[in-house]
Amino acid sequence: MKGIVLAGGSGTRLHPITQAISKQLLPVYDKPMIYYPISVLMLAGIREILIISTPTDLPNFERLLGDGSQLGIEFRYAEQAAPNGLAEAFVIGADFIGDDDVALILGDNIFYGQGFSRTLQTEVADLDGCVLFGYPVKDPQRYGVGEIAPDGRLLSIEEKPETPKSNRAITGLYLYDNQVVEIARGLKPSARGELEITDVNMTYLRQDRARLVELSRGFAWLDTGTHDSLLEAAEFVQVIEHRTGVRIACLEEVALRMGYIGPDECYQLGAKLAKSGYGDYVMDVARAAGAGD
Ligand code: DAU
Repeated sequence: MKGIVLAGGSGTRLHPITQAISKQLLPVYDKPMIYYPISVLMLAGIREILIISTPTDLPNFERLLGDGSQLGIEFRYAEQAAPNGLAEAFVIGADFIGDDDVALILGDNIFYGQGFSRTLQTEVADLDGCVLFGYPVKDPQRYGVGEIAPDGRLLSIEEKPETPKSNRAITGLYLYDNQVVEIARGLKPSARGELEITDVNMTYLRQDRARLVELSRGFAWLDTGTHDSLLEAAEFVQVIEHRTGVRIACLEEVALRMGYIGPDECYQLGAKLAKSGYGDYVMDVARAAGAGD
């Protein structure tokens, strides 16, 4: 399976912060926001990742992430000329996707919870059609919202409905088979002029090939869309990291644990960042895994 991180858009809800920098490069406590979605794809076992962003911001992502070889994976880059909708990712990424299945994750979505890697790996292995992830929220009208039957089946999805049929938001992580490219190419722009991901998902739903995986209580799906939610996400990460001593979405550690790099390579990556606590952490993790033995 290939992976796409969509990290474009204009970030208007975070102005003036995002007037000169991409939203997905802003810090969420101790690392850039895009680390969080990238770690999700890596934990799912995905090693070929396309980063899509605006022509202005793309060079900054390349500067931060390089070609991925340092993490034992591959990053590629593509421009989205204008924010024409989430589903445009599959049109832009068609050559990159080739004949494969693909996971799309939004560059501003943060997922954290026990057993998530295992859930992801199982869903990737069993994929047939599309898999969506639902999460209960108190303000569903801000999201894509699933209508759920009493037996838990997904009945419909509405984008930002005024009167939501449930409190179940459809999160910004989507797994698709290869048909998604053809579906996205056939979409017409919505009333707001975008190729809507909800229209893609509704196509799978009508074919009875859309599955909803519920992310339960105790799981965290965090928003970074406003000044307050961005700060709250950072505070959440800080609290968990301070309490447990374990860092969330540390790409070097994820690469090590997934077997993409060895302890010595991981140590070298940490050493390059040694002036920050983040770098010290990477070196500690590498040492515990046998670096230098
Ligand atoms: O976060 C989950 C929600 O994401 C879903 O529940 C909704 O169904 C889905 O439409 C989307 O809603 P948003 O209101 O968050 O969409 P927004 O237009 O803000 O775009 C989400 C991110 O994707 C944002 O960081 C900017 C980026 N983006 C957006 C568009 C429209 C792009 O990179 N390119 C685009 O063309």
